[in-house]
Amino acid sequence: MSGFSPDWLELREPCDTRARSEELVIALRSLLVSRPLRVLDLGAGTGANIRYMAPLLGGEQRWCLVDNDPRLIERQPAILEGAHFQCEVISQQLDLATDLSSLPISQCQLVTASALLDLVSADWLASLASRCAALSVPVLFSLSYDGRVQCLPDDPDDEWVIGLVNRHQRGDKGFGPALGPDATRYACEVFAALGFQTRIAPSDWLIESEERAFQRELIAGWSGAAREMAPSEAARIERWSGRRDADIASGSSRIRVGHQDFMAWPTAPCE
Ligand SMILES: C[S@@+](CC[C@H](N)C(=O)[O-])C[C@H]1O[C@@H](n2cnc3c(N)ncnc32)[C@H](O)[C@@H]1O
Repeated sequence: MSGFSPDWLELREPCDTRARSEELVIALRSLLVSRPLRVLDLGAGTGANIRYMAPLLGGEQRWCLVDNDPRLIERQPAILEGAHFQCEVISQQLDLATDLSSLPISQCQLVTASALLDLVSADWLASLASRCAALSVPVLFSLSYDGRVQCLPDDPDDEWVIGLVNRHQRGDKGFGPALGPDATRYACEVFAALGFQTRIAPSDWLIESEERAFQRELIAGWSGAAREMAPSEAARIERWSGRRDADIASGSSRIRVGHQDFMAWPTAPCE
């Protein structure tokens, strides 16, 4: 099991959907014209990525959704269709940290992931990139956290707590030291060095005051991460989260969380 509950993924999905760059998916669609389109989705969770991308990509698609958490896999769709698209879906349970070499990249025309890149290590991403380069497969990595947070109304301890959170983000999330807020910058470097063209688009979460449950979970998650980094400051962190929770309850809290979407494609035309 991973540390990502189905409830958390469900809470974040509407905000993710608003934040994602439609422009990058449309750009991919014009690169990937042949159908059925075969897509490999890494760390797919319950399938948020296919739900967002499939209608935009359009036409016949075959998706392989990879995750290591059976609780999430059992919620993935087996089939997904709409007015202008039909997807067949297969789910694959696999530990990406240890089984990267068994990923069926050669059988797909696009590798994608959402909210995964900031969890992986530089070495892992470099290995994935070199496999994609060897097979000339483009990638789209959406919703990588970039370290920027703005809470409104602001609090004197926001910056301090988020500093601790960002240090926590660089800890090991199962792949070795995580790229955390450096994920997109590093992906850009690695894929460009392999001869790919790259493009980045902002995908910040703009969390509205009515999204109380999502905000509460986020603040609880940040408090936990901050306490792990500075256990002796637990009381100060607790007071901070108490103030933030009071703002959430009163309906005055809005939170922006910096994210980026990243795509890279080989210079030679895609299949
Ligand atoms: C933040 S969630 C994102 C899920 C989904 N892509 C989305 O956007 O809702 C990260 C996902 O990566 C998966 N994951 C984390 N480590 C993994 C590993 N070592 N192997 C396979 N999947 C992993 C988790 O189970 C989780 O589904």
